[in-house]
Amino acid sequence: MKNGPCWLDDAGKPIQAHGGMIARFGDKWYWYGENKDGPTLRGSAVGHRVDVVGVSCYSSSDLVNWHYEGLALKPEPGDAAHPLHPSKIVERPKVLYCEKTGKYVMWFHSDSPDYWSACAGCAVSDTPQGPFHFLYATQPNRRDCRDINVYQDPVTQKAYVIHSGDWNHTLYFSELDDDYTGFTGNCFAQLAEQTREGGSLCRHDGLYYCVSSGCTGWNPNPTLYAVTRHLTTPMVLVDNPCEGPRYRTTFDGQSTYIFEADGVFYLMLDHWKPENLKESGYSILPIDFSDGRMTVRWQPEFNGLIRADR
Ligand code: DGJ
Repeated sequence: MKNGPCWLDDAGKPIQAHGGMIARFGDKWYWYGENKDGPTLRGSAVGHRVDVVGVSCYSSSDLVNWHYEGLALKPEPGDAAHPLHPSKIVERPKVLYCEKTGKYVMWFHSDSPDYWSACAGCAVSDTPQGPFHFLYATQPNRRDCRDINVYQDPVTQKAYVIHSGDWNHTLYFSELDDDYTGFTGNCFAQLAEQTREGGSLCRHDGLYYCVSSGCTGWNPNPTLYAVTRHLTTPMVLVDNPCEGPRYRTTFDGQSTYIFEADGVFYLMLDHWKPENLKESGYSILPIDFSDGRMTVRWQPEFNGLIRADR
């Protein structure tokens, strides 16, 4: 796959899984993301948008050939007040598997078209491909919630919804309850007054790394990574991990998720095309942790997993 443009699925159709994530459930990889296969509407107060089409699910055995499984979460065109009505915002869907309940739990950024309601939406399914059934949308711990992600701490096994809050000034970690469908009330702030979006986490060699973008709408900006030894103690912003052409604009992309496969972490990027959002592209880039720093080098292609001992 060529990193940068929109990728095609195994039927030759553009993959509609923007702001997404890749996770392994059972013997397959699943890619969830925003289906933006509609006209880009211009001139709204907050710029360009696509009416909610739903959340796509694709499956793969090799991370290169992707099969469309359909809409894992469907819109609700009949109810103008519903958070899944086409007029709303559904962004950055992420899915966790809950061992306790045996359910798949989706969290997504649920918002009004002007981005003022700033909620987290929750939906559950018995199977990874869905259908996911919408439960509710809320502000986690009464805090505004925009760019969203999820993280299962491999040390404590606690799961979190990570979200930009305080009008994107702070990154919040809101702990999920045992079912992953509600919040315990435990919540801590990171990167206060750093105005970050697209926060994505991984843990390597005893340190937590948080990759995030700045806040410039659909336009790219420099990624920064931050580090902490304990998830709940303050992270320190370190540097831009990107190396290669256009490293100052994250190769013209924005972080959406970090997944691990065979001991290697991979950073997923969206390459937004604000004029025609459905044509937005993707990259998957391996993360290197040698020499005491995090490095994400530009690679023109992603051709599946690389060896951990390369
Ligand atoms: C940047 C965010 O990261 C995207 O998910 C989206 O909300 C755009 N802003 C909208 O401008």
